[in-house]
Amino acid sequence: MARGAGCRVQGAEKSGIKMNRKVYIETYGCQMNVADSEVVVSILGDKGYQATDDINEAGLILINTCSIRENAEKRIWSRLSTIKHIKKMNKHVIVGLIGCMAERLKERVIEANQLVDLVVGPDAYRELPALVAEAESGHKAVNVLLSHEETYADITPVRMDKNGVSSFVSIMRGCNNMCSYCVVPYVRGAERSRDPESVIMEVTELFKSGYRDVTLLGQNVDSYNRVSDGNKTGFPELLEKTAQIDPLLRVRFSTSHPKDLSDDLLKTIARYNNICRHIHLPAQSGSNRILKLMNREYTREWFIDRINTIRSFIPDCSLSTDMIAGFCTETEEDHLASLSLMEWAGFDFAYMFKYSERPGTRAARKYPDDIPEEIKTRRLNEMINLQNKLSAVSKKKDIGKVFEVLIEGASKRSAEQLSGRTTQNKVVVFPKENFKKGEYVQIRIEKSTSATLIGKAVNI
Ligand code: 5AD
Ligand code: SF4
Repeated sequence: MARGAGCRVQGAEKSGIKMNRKVYIETYGCQMNVADSEVVVSILGDKGYQATDDINEAGLILINTCSIRENAEKRIWSRLSTIKHIKKMNKHVIVGLIGCMAERLKERVIEANQLVDLVVGPDAYRELPALVAEAESGHKAVNVLLSHEETYADITPVRMDKNGVSSFVSIMRGCNNMCSYCVVPYVRGAERSRDPESVIMEVTELFKSGYRDVTLLGQNVDSYNRVSDGNKTGFPELLEKTAQIDPLLRVRFSTSHPKDLSDDLLKTIARYNNICRHIHLPAQSGSNRILKLMNREYTREWFIDRINTIRSFIPDCSLSTDMIAGFCTETEEDHLASLSLMEWAGFDFAYMFKYSERPGTRAARKYPDDIPEEIKTRRLNEMINLQNKLSAVSKKKDIGKVFEVLIEGASKRSAEQLSGRTTQNKVVVFPKENFKKGEYVQIRIEKSTSATLIGKAVNI
């Protein structure tokens, strides 16, 4: 997904020379990147940059990149070649590539593709103003150093979401897990947790300015751990403190790792009505042999136990997952094990991917990427077809029930309809009446489409 920046920050001009201080930032990949772009806009805002939605009026164009699969990188290369035209028309415009592709591809980006003036990795955003200045003086500027400490805790992100109701707050960076297929630990570095006080302060400020739904973000939130003033704060404590800010604030989190999802966390969720009844729990595969090759550090049986425990502590919890089709050496039997796990779990939603070999990862070094493309595609399609059925079953079960919906704005299809989400993270569309964005409303579900529940407000 690509998003342009649409917020206003303080404008300024360098003394004497009329600089174009408008920055256009386009974001690819996960929510973590979206949160990072908000940090980048804040850092540049302090130096007088103003964000713009219009790439053609920008003096600085930043592409916040994703490396997770080869396709993500391909999209960015093709985007860069279209930006070439803008640079041809205005040679003063500075183009920067930031985020996860920076570390991996710095030489290639700068040398093979003369278009890019600036390459900045995810832990070096504080240096951006200085690096932009260096690029303006005609030098290529690069900083891709990864850090063991940087969390950007003291920076107030400039919100680029448009609805003003739901937002993301990054609570940690990097990852220590070393799943064998995954490039994240290499491009985003080692895991580090942000101090809890700054997280609570940021969420409190969001609540005060009208936000009602906050998602705490990390590659593996279950391993959040921070000692400050002699007190240890793990993820359950952080989640609890966030939920205590106000009962009208909904709190979500992503992503959990099945190996670390603790009973303690589930009990905390069960205790607070405003911690959302939705857990994203990536399974990746249903085969023990493949899970071992993936270095996921849990078995199918462990995963099943976690889901059973979720259901016993939080009966109304929805579940979503990530699955990979066609990992190295995956047999038909392994694939069927993935399908049967999905079916058993009855996931409400799933993100499904074909395995994509990433240079430098353990899988790339040790295992053959030996599943032919057409078999990967067929297996992925089988997963998608199954998930479509599971999602339809999950939505059908909701028909006739009443859900509390937090209103996020007008529905995409009609200005007469509003759209919001249930605590289970399901999208609900309903007639506008006199309801407003940011309010909670009780909706009885009447029918469902492939992606949405449709209903009407009721008084209960
Ligand atoms: N190939 C395919 N999918 C991948 N993911 C991560 N790395 C790869 C890869 N090399 C998927 C995993 C992860 C999600 C964010 O992306 O399912 O949970
Ligand atoms: Fe990648 Fe595994 Fe870390 Fe997720 S937990 S970012 S899949 S290494």
